[in-house]
Amino acid sequence: MFQISDISYSTKKDFYDDVISYAKGLMYEEKDKIANLANISALLYNIMEKINWVGFYLYKNSELVLGPFQGKPACIRIKMGTGVCGTAASSRKIQVVSNVHEYKGHIPCDSETNSEIVIPIILNDTLLGVLDIDSPMIDRFDCEDSEYLSKLIKLITDHCDWNE
Ligand code: SME
Repeated sequence: MFQISDISYSTKKDFYDDVISYAKGLMYEEKDKIANLANISALLYNIMEKINWVGFYLYKNSELVLGPFQGKPACIRIKMGTGVCGTAASSRKIQVVSNVHEYKGHIPCDSETNSEIVIPIILNDTLLGVLDIDSPMIDRFDCEDSEYLSKLIKLITDHCDWNE
């Protein structure tokens, strides 16, 4: 049985160090991308505070398609360059949106969402998808979240088998 310790962290570094340890444990000896992305979305949904949606969109046939996630049902297909996810995917740059209501072209999936972070997943110059995390809090994510979530994405990217 998987359990998350009830610790209150004093720094984001300490918090994300634990996230990385949990992620390594969950993916131990398992390379299947869907299984691993499903467990990582469940981990983040249960361990991160003040968030309402966590999930992956996978790049298929020139668009993003909904992958493993936790939260309310979401839009299934996102075109490149549209919304926060499509912008992160086409620019290959992390998007930190402090207030989604001020972001032109934001695609609303859950009315609770007020801020959002999207991290592109890239392996050897190939776009694989994005990680999207939504929060009901304005300005929930900062450059530390970007930095440590990028490390988590690198761990997942290097670990999973993407050729299946
Ligand atoms: N808000 C995202 C769409 C995905 S949902 O938030 C789950 C966007 O603008 O791309």
